[in-house]
Amino acid sequence: MFKRLLGMFSNDLAIDLGTANTLVLVKGQGICINEPSVVAVTYDKHGEKSILAVGEEAKKMIGKTPSNIHVIRPMKDGVIADFEITEMMIRYFIEKSHDRKRFLSPRILICVPYGLTKVERRTVIDSAKFAGARYVHLMEEPFVASIGAGIPVDEPNGNLVIDIGGGTTEIGVTSLGGLVLSKSVRIAGDHIDQGIINYMKKNFNLIIGERIAEEIKIKIGAAVPLDEEISTMVKGRDQQNGSLKSIEITSEQLRDAMKNSLEGIADALKDVLEQTPPELAGDIVENGIVLTGGGALIRGLDKYLSNAVKLPVYTAEEPLLSVVKGAGIALNSIDSLQKTAYED
Ligand SMILES: Nc1ncnc2c1ncn2[C@@H]1O[C@H](COP(=O)(O)OP(=O)(O)OP(=O)(O)O)[C@@H](O)[C@H]1O
Ligand SMILES: [Mg+2]
Repeated sequence: MFKRLLGMFSNDLAIDLGTANTLVLVKGQGICINEPSVVAVTYDKHGEKSILAVGEEAKKMIGKTPSNIHVIRPMKDGVIADFEITEMMIRYFIEKSHDRKRFLSPRILICVPYGLTKVERRTVIDSAKFAGARYVHLMEEPFVASIGAGIPVDEPNGNLVIDIGGGTTEIGVTSLGGLVLSKSVRIAGDHIDQGIINYMKKNFNLIIGERIAEEIKIKIGAAVPLDEEISTMVKGRDQQNGSLKSIEITSEQLRDAMKNSLEGIADALKDVLEQTPPELAGDIVENGIVLTGGGALIRGLDKYLSNAVKLPVYTAEEPLLSVVKGAGIALNSIDSLQKTAYED
C-alpha cells in the first residue's frame, strides 16, 4: 500500500550515464539534464575533497586550473575510473533533477556502457540509491540506443545499431526484444581526439589539449572527402621552444589524423557482421545499419562505414539523444522490468 502511494507521487527517471555526457529524463517531463560527465573538485588544507563544479561548468575548467583544483572525468574508456567521483556525480545529477516536493523516492533506469564489471554496476546502483532512488534498474547501451533510434526491437527481425560515444563504440544486433550479439571497443570520440593530439605533435610539433582537439574534430572533422574541403586555425604550444603558435589545418589533414580510429570502428563493425547468424544478417542487409551517439555527427561517417561494409548506413535523428530517448521509452515498462529483475 505504502509503495503504491509512493508510486503515485513520484516521477521516475531515466539516466544515460555516458563517459562524455550524462542526460537525465524525467517521466512526463522530458530531458531535464544534458551535461558533460565532468567534475571539478577542490581540496582544503586538510586534504578534504569537495565539489566545486559539475557538468558544463567543470568542463570549461579543463586544463585551466590552479594546483588545488582537479578536473576529473570519472568515467573513461567505458569504465569507472574513479568510483568516489562517479558516485558524487550521479548523486549531483539526480538531486539536481529532483524536485523534492514532487519526487518521493523515484525509480531510476540507468543506461551504462556494455560490459561494466559487477563492482562497477554495484557502484552505480548504490550511488542512485544513496541519492534517494527506491529502485534502480540498469540497462546496457546498445539495446537502449536501438529503442531510442526507433528500431522495432521486439519483432523477429534483425537490426544492427552502432553507437559511437566518447569512450566506447558499442555495436549490437537486436531481435525479439533482446541483444543477440554485441561488441564494445574502446575506440570512439576520445580515441579520435587523442589521434588528433598525436598528429599535431608529430607533424607540426604543436602541443594541444583534449578540449582543443575535440573542438577541431567537431569543426572540420570529415570521414570522407568533402566537395569543398574546409580548414581552421589551431593554437598551441611549440614542442621545441615552448612558444605559442598558430597553424592552419585542413579537413583533409584531419582525416589523416582520424584514420586509425575510423578504421578501428569499421573493423569492429565487420567483426560483428561476420559473427551475425545468417537469418539476421539477411534482415540487416534489408534494414541497413543505424548510427547513434555523438560520433555519428562526424561528417560523412555514414558514407564511410557504408563503403567499408557495403551496406546502407543511416544516422539516427538527434544521435546524441538516442540512448536517453530509448531509456525514456523503456521507463514506461519499469513495472514489468522491476517484477522480472534479479538483484545485481
Ligand atoms: N558534431 C560532432 N562531430 C563529431 N563528434 C562529436 C560531435 N558532437 C559530439 N561529438 C563527440 O561525441 C562524443 C560524445 O558522444 P556521446 O554523448 O554519445 O558519448 P557518451 O554516451 O557520453 O559516451 P559512451 O557512450 O562512450 O559512454 C564526444 O567524443 C564528442 O566529441
Ligand atoms: Mg553513450
